[in-house]
Amino acid sequence: MRHAAFVFDAYGTLFDVHAAVRRHAAAIGPEGPLLSDIWRAKQLEYSWVRSLMGSYVDFWQLTEQALDFAFDKAPSADRSLRQDLLDAYWRLDCYPEVPAVLKALKAEGARLAILSNGSPAMLEAAVRSAALDTVLDDIFSVDQVRKFKTDPSVYDLVATNWRLYPNSISFQSSNRWDIAGAAKFGFRTVWINRSGQPDEYRDHPPSLILLSLEGLLAGA
Ligand code: LAC
Repeated sequence: MRHAAFVFDAYGTLFDVHAAVRRHAAAIGPEGPLLSDIWRAKQLEYSWVRSLMGSYVDFWQLTEQALDFAFDKAPSADRSLRQDLLDAYWRLDCYPEVPAVLKALKAEGARLAILSNGSPAMLEAAVRSAALDTVLDDIFSVDQVRKFKTDPSVYDLVATNWRLYPNSISFQSSNRWDIAGAAKFGFRTVWINRSGQPDEYRDHPPSLILLSLEGLLAGA
């Protein structure tokens, strides 16, 4: 059965979170990949810990705090690039297949949205910069519920807003932990395993595993 409602995670799924450091790779030097990995890992850790503590601050603040920690762990990286890296986060590259896949799904009459930890301002800027604003019907930010993924209230934002049963919504994420949360909530889930990661959270499996979003169109 074709799913006519598709919801996409933003960072890592539509937008390449490592594009910011890559854009300044020459100036950052050899610790660039380490800086980028720690930046992303801490950004996510802060989101989980703050949800558990009940101490919400928006994802933009977590992104800034995570970058500062990453600079502390990668001392050879030039800290004067801090503002350039933060600015780049508002204009991240999307993965190459994203515009065409979203347009094709839209042309088939599908309803399309983002559901992300990102703050509304960050998401709107990234979507506009990647010229995806015309294909998306909605951008759902966790900011409405002041909790981060994988809190069930986050996934419920879409089901409630669209008045659809969770299992009639196809949720795509490259983050396996996000797929676990979405599957537990009841979405149909597609894990976009871009980098060939081993499976985990095996008691909350994805409905489907694809290497890129292009597979959503196969056999359409
Ligand atoms: C998001 C995080 C998972 O976009 O990157 O929600």
